[in-house]
Amino acid sequence: MRIVLLGPPGAGKGTQAKLMLERTGMVHISTGDLLRAAVATSSTLGRAAKGFMERGELVPDQLVTDMIRDRLSAMGAAPSFMLDGFPRTVVQAEALEKMLASRSIPLEHVISLDVPREELVRRLSGRRTCRVCGAMSHVTSDPTRRPGVCDECGGALYQREDDREETIRARLEVYDRATAPLITFYRGRGLLREVDGTGPTTDVLDRVMARLELAA
Ligand code: AP5
Repeated sequence: MRIVLLGPPGAGKGTQAKLMLERTGMVHISTGDLLRAAVATSSTLGRAAKGFMERGELVPDQLVTDMIRDRLSAMGAAPSFMLDGFPRTVVQAEALEKMLASRSIPLEHVISLDVPREELVRRLSGRRTCRVCGAMSHVTSDPTRRPGVCDECGGALYQREDDREETIRARLEVYDRATAPLITFYRGRGLLREVDGTGPTTDVLDRVMARLELAA
């Protein structure tokens, strides 16, 4: 199955992708994670992307599209994947369509997670991420047993540079302007599956799986 997870920052795309990975074994491709890894190693891509990410802006379409093309071409003939954070503009969506059409592997579903704006800000401003294993927690709604220490692996937790209040607002504005038009784009193609992204993460997962018509 080939899926896009769509939704504003903090909608729970990464969280749902990880839960779906456990249930379905589909490959999870997160452009945010790939870009953060590139920044961490100071690769050419990372150096080009760093400033955009810190300001909460989008990395230029060409850089991200090339990164995804490389990632997909390394997969087998009939890959099964979830794209998390890509596409994020109509230009990226059209590029993805061409990439997949050239290999006759069309997209099957676009899951759009819907969460109220104030809840997005609350989730992002309290998010903490493990430096070692990437596990996420939240300072008030999902705290770790020991403050600052990951429950999964004991690694140190950090706050993402772009999870500070000012940058969160900038990211949400970018979403409204550049990414929200994809809802109409994919609805027009009959691929959009809208899902309420509020409530316990496992409830959201059940809704997602039901929309994908997989056994939940
Ligand atoms: P990226 O890493 O993709 O960030 P994002 O889209 O802003 O998404 P987030 O990771 O912030 O949120 P999410 O929806 O995954 O939510 P999560 O599950 O983490 O991108 C970062 C940057 O990279 C971009 O700003 C841009 O610069 C660049 N970039 C990436 N892709 C690009 C592209 N295609 N083109 C150009 N530039 C690109 O959950 C958030 C929090 O909420 C967590 O604390 C979690 O525990 C909590 N939570 C999740 N679900 C629930 C729930 N049901 N109830 C309560 N809390 C919940």
